[in-house]
Amino acid sequence: MARIQAIRGTQDRYGGALLRWRVMEERVRAVADRFGYEEIRTPLFEATELFSRGVGMDTDIVQKEMYTFADRKGRSLTLRPEGTASVVRAYLEHGMARERPIAKFFYMGPMFRYERPQKGRFREFHQFGVEVIGSDDPLHDAETVAVFIAMLEDLGLSGLTVRLGSVGDGECRPAYTALLRSYLKENEKDLCETCRERIDRNPLRVLDCKADAGGPVIAGAPSILEHLCGGCRDHLDRVGAALGAAGIPYTHDAGLVRGLDYYTRTVYEVHHERLGAQSALGGGGRYDRLVEDLGGPATPGVGFSAGMERIADVASSLGVEWTGEEPLRLFVAPLDGAGEERVFPLLLRLRRRWRVEGNYRARNLKTQLKHAVRFGARFVLLIGEEEAAADAVSIKRLDTGDQTRVKAADLEREIESLASAGDGDDRSRKE
Ligand code: HAM
Repeated sequence: MARIQAIRGTQDRYGGALLRWRVMEERVRAVADRFGYEEIRTPLFEATELFSRGVGMDTDIVQKEMYTFADRKGRSLTLRPEGTASVVRAYLEHGMARERPIAKFFYMGPMFRYERPQKGRFREFHQFGVEVIGSDDPLHDAETVAVFIAMLEDLGLSGLTVRLGSVGDGECRPAYTALLRSYLKENEKDLCETCRERIDRNPLRVLDCKADAGGPVIAGAPSILEHLCGGCRDHLDRVGAALGAAGIPYTHDAGLVRGLDYYTRTVYEVHHERLGAQSALGGGGRYDRLVEDLGGPATPGVGFSAGMERIADVASSLGVEWTGEEPLRLFVAPLDGAGEERVFPLLLRLRRRWRVEGNYRARNLKTQLKHAVRFGARFVLLIGEEEAAADAVSIKRLDTGDQTRVKAADLEREIESLASAGDGDDRSRKE
């Protein structure tokens, strides 16, 4: 029979790659905790309208990339392409504003976009991110950048660049958009097909064109940073000043156009040169109209999301090791029928504390020692007739071959003291 394969653009994660992934999850969550972000987990699918209204009808995500399907009652549902809209929905649905004048959320999990799979781009991918809802303070914009950088630094990444821009607000963006539109119309013939179509609908997206054709036109386009209103200019300056004060280097990027429509004022991305074309490790910005667009009261917000596959990719290309604390490993080897009788409860007992493997059936010692070595055990616990008669267990150190017999009742204490008497080399260093 034909074999069934994983869907294009999805990945299985196991073995060493999964262990590294878990370390990434743990470290990122620990930083979010230190910065006071509370974890939130929302469903993997939502009403399609959440994203068409939240992310925006004119975006590539909504127009081309969503996994949308009808359920058995004919309701239109969508696998979440991003997390921000869901966090805002949950915030409104549970009246979270009541207990949290400023709500700070952290989230992590799979997202789904029907994009052409390539390096750093998948159809099921994973993001972690944060959202601050209820503050229009530029220090919160800077805080979200700072927590992102702290997470990447805790993961051992260097060589990061922060690009900071602004997309203006309801006061200055319409005038800028009109100016940009007329400039692009004048130069239409030098733009690619997609860009020509975008001039009327969403001219800002033209600035994000990756095709070479329009390069010179785009480079000569009026810069939004020179057409911000006083409020937006001041906001951007304050975010920049806060980043400067925190020692986080950044560059202004007038052409920073994000792929989602909810942004107002601040937008930013964090890049790494190792990634090539898909060089954004993550991005975000302010969304002061989103809560209202999703049916809530006027409430400002700011946040970012990061692509975990891309972060893992950069880490491995930099040779950064992510290893967690390794628990002590033990192997239980029954030597005969008497050992076989004791092995099952002994394994269960030891697994309350340590990572323990063993054989249920007696085999010759040499074979069992081989198993233990392959498993990475530091001690092998031998049980046979002699041990059973003395209500004892023999502990063999695999590194030196030394063996001692201890009373079964004292086993945990003896293992603990043997383990700490060594040089602690069972525990791989944190970094
Ligand atoms: P985004 O820029 O669409 O923003 O996605 C953030 C990051 O997710 C990207 O920079 C990239 O690292 C990763 N990513 C996106 N698509 C893919 C893909 N197909 N394969 C692999 N990685 C991908 C957002 O999602 C917003 N929710 C960010 C935000 C939060 N803004 C405010 N709050």
